[in-house]
Amino acid sequence: MRIAIINGPNLNLLGSREPQIYGNQSFESFLEELKKTFPQIELVYFQSNLEGQLVDYIQSEGKLGSRLVINAAAYSHTSLAIPDAITAVSAQAIEVHISNVFARESFRHHSYLSGVCIGSVVGLGFFGYQMAIQYFIQNTEK
Ligand code: DQA
Repeated sequence: MRIAIINGPNLNLLGSREPQIYGNQSFESFLEELKKTFPQIELVYFQSNLEGQLVDYIQSEGKLGSRLVINAAAYSHTSLAIPDAITAVSAQAIEVHISNVFARESFRHHSYLSGVCIGSVVGLGFFGYQMAIQYFIQNTEK
């Protein structure tokens, strides 16, 4: 199974960005751990600060039949193009947020992605990505 992890704007700064909210670890080092945890999965990773690049990547991975684990970051609260891309290629996607968006500002309480995803993992830190992958492993026919 191929799983694409997709991170949106400012998540390239994980490790240094607001560590009290997002922790001290870079996503690249977490990704190495994930690959060791799930050696049987073809894990690919894409991060962009640009909405259109995220749309292009979702389209190309969706056409390959990849499962998507997506943290669209601030675009979760603003973008229609990103959920439309998931729908357009009929991708199976799980939404992740590192922080508990419901315990933060009210503008973070709504996500345009939630309705096109199988489910959302919110507030469990980087562990949310691992949970999403585990879900796909347990719920995908071999
Ligand atoms: C985030 C939450 C968003 O509200 C925020 O804009 C982000 C990160 C999270 O992972 O907690 O950039 O998606």
